Amino acid sequence: MECELRDSCAQHTRLRKLASFKNSGVCFIQLRDKWFRSDSCVKAQFGIISKPVELEGAALASEVVFGHGYAHYGYFPDGLPEVVSLQALGAAQHAYFEKLLETIRAVPGEVSRILDVGSGTGANAKNLIGAGFDVTCVSPSAQMNEMARSKLPEGTQVIDARFEDFATNHRFDLCIFAESFHYIELEPALAQAAKYAEKGVVIFDYFRRGGVGTDQNDTTRTTHTSFLEAVVRQGQFEVLHDEDVTDAITPTFVIYEYLKNEKVAPFLERYRATLSQNHPLRAWMLELLLGRSMDKLTRKSGRSTTFARAHEYRLIVMRRK
Ligand SMILES: C[S@@+](CC[C@H](N)C(=O)[O-])C[C@H]1O[C@@H](n2cnc3c(N)ncnc32)[C@H](O)[C@@H]1O
Repeated sequence: MECELRDSCAQHTRLRKLASFKNSGVCFIQLRDKWFRSDSCVKAQFGIISKPVELEGAALASEVVFGHGYAHYGYFPDGLPEVVSLQALGAAQHAYFEKLLETIRAVPGEVSRILDVGSGTGANAKNLIGAGFDVTCVSPSAQMNEMARSKLPEGTQVIDARFEDFATNHRFDLCIFAESFHYIELEPALAQAAKYAEKGVVIFDYFRRGGVGTDQNDTTRTTHTSFLEAVVRQGQFEVLHDEDVTDAITPTFVIYEYLKNEKVAPFLERYRATLSQNHPLRAWMLELLLGRSMDKLTRKSGRSTTFARAHEYRLIVMRRK
């Protein structure tokens, strides 16, 4: 984004190439005659922190902290646990996998070959293989695919592709979408599922609620109603099970917000204040590169209420007609 405040920004420039509005906390950077706000510049020009990178970072954190690397939210069938901690989130992420496994086992017909669409770091695939399934992974994130390859048995196929572009001569019993369906355009996702899934589809993911204004950062592609209409229009699948599990997912955000708002934010604020007092140059560099991300971390988000207002999380099983 080109900076509309170029002139006033230039007046405040001390260094020729870099300028910062101290009071607003916004930085501007000049690159080849163009001025960029630091957030768009740092993100778009240097690609440091974008949405996929945030997701890869969360998956990495899950791998490092919990040892499993799930990139989905937690599943809390009994609601918010008494002890609110990161461990509770890690355990709930595994409970999500258990629910997925139980659902896959209940799909009618013999299911053995699974295409794991949007396979993240391969954590679901690893456990599914452990449970006796033959799993192929497809996902566009090179980072997470490398993490998957390193944990999956040799010979497991991990294909670097968006599902929309995926092509193979192999066929599968089941396509599973564990928190990945909402990334994919609806019609191509169903068309591809009809091509590759001979027995059925499991979707454990969220949809946008109809009639709710769209947040520009919301990457959720479709509503549940549009999904059901598209399934009927396509005529390839019959919906066997369709459960609203939103209430079992939202404790994820309650825990996350509590830890972020009550623990991490005050710590970060103290750290920034101390650094700026004792090491102003380092503080300035840090703000330039990560100021917006740190602001985001210290801002109260209220996602535990906004998520459920704008989304419904569903567990859907479809059988091939
Ligand atoms: C929230 S993560 C879930 C990962 C994993 N299924 C899990 O449960 O831990 C979403 C995954 O969908 C993948 N993804 C994003 N866009 C996709 C697309 N167009 N086709 C296939 N996968 C996609 C991401 O790279 C990521 O691996």
